Amino acid sequence: MAKEIRTIGVMTSGGDSPGMNAAIRAVARACSYYNVKCIGFYRGYQGMIENDYCEMNARSVRNIISTGGTILKSARSSEFRTPEGRKKAADNLKKAGVDAMVLIGGDGTFKGGQVFSEEYDIPVIGVPGTIDNDIAGTNFTIGYDTALNTVVEAIDKIRDTASSHDRLFFIEVMGRDAGFIALNSGVGAGAEEILIPEEDLGLDRMLESLKRSKRSGKSSSIVVVSEGDKIGKNVYELADYVTENMPDYDVRVTVLGHMQRGGSPTCFDRTLASRLCVKAVELLLDGEKNVMVGLINNEIVATNFDDGLKEDHSINKELLRISDILSV
Ligand code: F6P
Repeated sequence: MAKEIRTIGVMTSGGDSPGMNAAIRAVARACSYYNVKCIGFYRGYQGMIENDYCEMNARSVRNIISTGGTILKSARSSEFRTPEGRKKAADNLKKAGVDAMVLIGGDGTFKGGQVFSEEYDIPVIGVPGTIDNDIAGTNFTIGYDTALNTVVEAIDKIRDTASSHDRLFFIEVMGRDAGFIALNSGVGAGAEEILIPEEDLGLDRMLESLKRSKRSGKSSSIVVVSEGDKIGKNVYELADYVTENMPDYDVRVTVLGHMQRGGSPTCFDRTLASRLCVKAVELLLDGEKNVMVGLINNEIVATNFDDGLKEDHSINKELLRISDILSV
């Protein structure tokens, strides 16, 4: 029989994302609703190793649903990758009386959770929180929608100045190994070209397309480049390459960087975080363990970590086609 769950721990790990606070709030409030003690660990796995935690209740998460960042802070712990680090964490959870954990983060967080739960008998549930949207076990990760809106707003502003000065802008967006942010913000902001890691379209094709745009009467252009783009050059090299081959164009580069990870979460991300985390707590109380929760076809679904982490990032190729058609 599954052990009774009296105390649930929660932490946020990896790159922070807007909506993580809404997620922490939902865990703490669901625990309070079901009369379970809730403990929040600071700085993800590192806080578990250092026994750095606080007790949480329904009131300790007041007024955080609208805030970006994470009140529990976040980190990428190299110590947790070692057996010694994981042992310290397991010992500390035992001492604090933690029966189960909700892990909010991305693929690195889930991989750590999977190894940990195989080594120690502590049930864990993963909640996908990352702006990258690169987790197979959910259609949307917490923070992705907010990041998209941040990026589109920034590109709209750059479009104003690009158009005033007849310039070509390369705009680099986040997404280490996945082009979701680039592809969707690119279509949403009407970019002329979108470069993503999943598709190596080649430099010549990009150059030809920019020349075609210019011939068709466009005086300014926007190229959205995912930081993980596989075309083989970074965004500054791309800009230099175009300058060499299209000397008439005045080229500029903007790297949006970490602004994409901040800001107040959209309603979509707040609701997603709330739904996923209530479900995470309920699954633990029902004796479920070692799965992630995700939103699939508008249902909250539990998927085992292996399937949830599959490298099928299912980029919507249709969006590339749409972008091609609309950037004539
Ligand atoms: O995984 C989220 C993410 O924002 C990626 O898109 C980006 O490559 C990475 O984190 C940057 O990480 P950091 O600056 O925190 O090391």
